[in-house]
Amino acid sequence: MQSTEARKIVIDTDPGIDDAVAILLALKSAEFDILGITTVAGNIGIQTTTRNAGRILALQDRRDVPVRAGAAVPLSRPGRNASYVHGNDGLGGVAFPEPLAAPAGDDAIAWLARTLDAADVGSVDILALGPLTNVARLVQEHPASAERLGRVIAMGGAIHEPGNVGPRAEFNIAADPEAADVVFRSGLDVTLIPLDVTRKVRATHAQAADLRDSDVAAAKISGELIDAYFQSTGGGESRPLHDPCVMLLALDAALFTCERLKISVDRTITGYAGSLDIDAAGGAISVAMEVDGDGALKLLFERLLG
Ligand code: BDR
Ligand code: CA
Repeated sequence: MQSTEARKIVIDTDPGIDDAVAILLALKSAEFDILGITTVAGNIGIQTTTRNAGRILALQDRRDVPVRAGAAVPLSRPGRNASYVHGNDGLGGVAFPEPLAAPAGDDAIAWLARTLDAADVGSVDILALGPLTNVARLVQEHPASAERLGRVIAMGGAIHEPGNVGPRAEFNIAADPEAADVVFRSGLDVTLIPLDVTRKVRATHAQAADLRDSDVAAAKISGELIDAYFQSTGGGESRPLHDPCVMLLALDAALFTCERLKISVDRTITGYAGSLDIDAAGGAISVAMEVDGDGALKLLFERLLG
């Protein structure tokens, strides 16, 4: 049972190793009333991201959270994936249980619209952990419903940092730059968490071991997921915990420093696709530019271990 103060959220995601840690963090945080998980193709194909969402819920025995499959392809270009990071199963080979139930449907975008129409205006947030295809299609196909959203908090982009899939391009934006463009121009209340911040939120080997050695299921499996992240970098430094930053900002905004920027998205068919250009200060998008990395990790581990 959620407390009356819990904030209604939908998690839009492409699990994904760091998506899985982020979802577990949300499931362990009473501040969130999770209305559902919508899936999108990104790190891996839609069937696998949808199954993985069900597997993560099964670990926590959460039959109350429906999973609905969303976009299988970007708005207007071929899909790409990141199985070279997340493995062919999307979860780094970590052993999750099978889903407790079949997905509630494959109508994520229509379900989002129905959910927003049924809720008070501004009372539902989307926490977006993958390419922005579902959110963009909500804006395009159900504009009146999209206007009822509270906030969209999305992991994506690189401002001053180099990209991770191109010189200046980050995976979630590069996977569907047209979708990011639709969302950034939509007038919605969007907060973006770029690589500039997520690269400062990385677990050490010792922290991963502490999680792994726990007898709390969410912590133990998060330790295993972070270990899988180490393996895909050759063992030296873990990959950033990108997607948990979305939940952490929603839980404790004081951990982050945000600036309002006007952003445009490179939509060419080049290695720069998905790069962000900053047009001027004072724009429409709130962008997290600084983070208290130690504080963010402390809150993450407290919740996973709790
Ligand atoms: C983003 O891309 C994906 O691989 C991660 O899950 C994260 O959402 C980081 O660029
Ligand atoms: Ca993701």
